[in-house]
Amino acid sequence: MSAQSTPIHIHPLEALKKNPFVLAPMAGITDHAFRSFMRKLDASVVVTELVSATGIEYKSERTLALMSYEESQRPIGIQLFGEDPEIIAKAAKVAEEHGADFVDLNFGCPVPKVVKKGAGSAMMKDLDLMRKVLASTVKAVKIPVTIKIRTGWEQNSRNALDVCNLAYDEGITWVAIHGRTRAAGYAGLADWDFITDVKAKTKIPVLGNGDILTPQKAVSRLKDSGCDGVLIGRGALKNPLIFADALSLWKGQPLRDDLKRNYAGIFRDLSEAIKAQSSEHITQIQLKKFASWFSTGYPGASAFRKSIFQLKNNDEVLSCALEFFDSIGDIDQEDTSHEEFLMGGHG
Ligand SMILES: Cc1cc2nc3c(=O)[nH]c(=O)nc-3n(C[C@H](O)[C@H](O)[C@H](O)COP(=O)(O)O)c2cc1C
Repeated sequence: MSAQSTPIHIHPLEALKKNPFVLAPMAGITDHAFRSFMRKLDASVVVTELVSATGIEYKSERTLALMSYEESQRPIGIQLFGEDPEIIAKAAKVAEEHGADFVDLNFGCPVPKVVKKGAGSAMMKDLDLMRKVLASTVKAVKIPVTIKIRTGWEQNSRNALDVCNLAYDEGITWVAIHGRTRAAGYAGLADWDFITDVKAKTKIPVLGNGDILTPQKAVSRLKDSGCDGVLIGRGALKNPLIFADALSLWKGQPLRDDLKRNYAGIFRDLSEAIKAQSSEHITQIQLKKFASWFSTGYPGASAFRKSIFQLKNNDEVLSCALEFFDSIGDIDQEDTSHEEFLMGGHG
């Protein structure tokens, strides 16, 4: 854990001006290792996976471990979820003391265990409670507070604009909108027309999110929606160069040539980051998951996945992955956007 007494903060909005492409939080994925890896590959801002405010209150070791980061990850946000304004505010204070650059509140999680208690996306049905949460959290900390929402609870109650205006009144720094309702889960496509409309009608900075799978799409979504930034989640799991390439395209510059499309080298970097943070067992799970996601759309991907999941030894897993990624050379990744991919998550 690298909390320090006087962190040199980077304001997340300042970071967006130089690079508007943000790594979306994903539970079990955007952990310490993956965030460090993605910052090196040009994600501008990173956020932890969702952390329970109640878990922080009870000083649960597993919960506190989710807040681990290193300086190179700045600006780093710690994402909290909960339903009690005072407990969330206290947890935000802990996140601030821990050195986070900002606190992000999760109002997008559709998972029954979370919404049953009134947390996550359920808070979009109770804006009085949300106002209390925002007010108590902003009051408790000096660092910026951001929120992440869905378009609404369901199709006929899409109140993202009301939430944005409420957030503006309460001094929130930005609202990230995943362009689906809670009812939609991960089905269908994110509604970027809706996001564009909300952005045009509110004063608060808005980040759009949903189904950005290519660097070209990242730039066109940003420009067409007028958003202040975009969040990319699953797209980074199919293509870890999505941020680096989007940033180059956005700036009108040539693609980063230090990367040389060297997927084996890129995978080796990720494996080093994972090994440094995880037990042997977790390392193996993560290596297999990332290798199979990154292989999407390349020739031989499905045979590769089958063989890697049969291996039991970390060195074998790594060399199997490196051999596959070496074999890609400069073959282009096939467009697999029509295929279902990770259709569930906490936001
Ligand atoms: C496996 C998984 C885990 C997720 N965990 C979180 C989370 O902890 N917090 C959150 O706000 N959103 C979470 N999300 C939602 C993503 O941040 C994002 O809003 C969603 O995946 C849509 O963006 P994408 O199409 O770019 O992936 C998760 C999504 C997935 C697929």
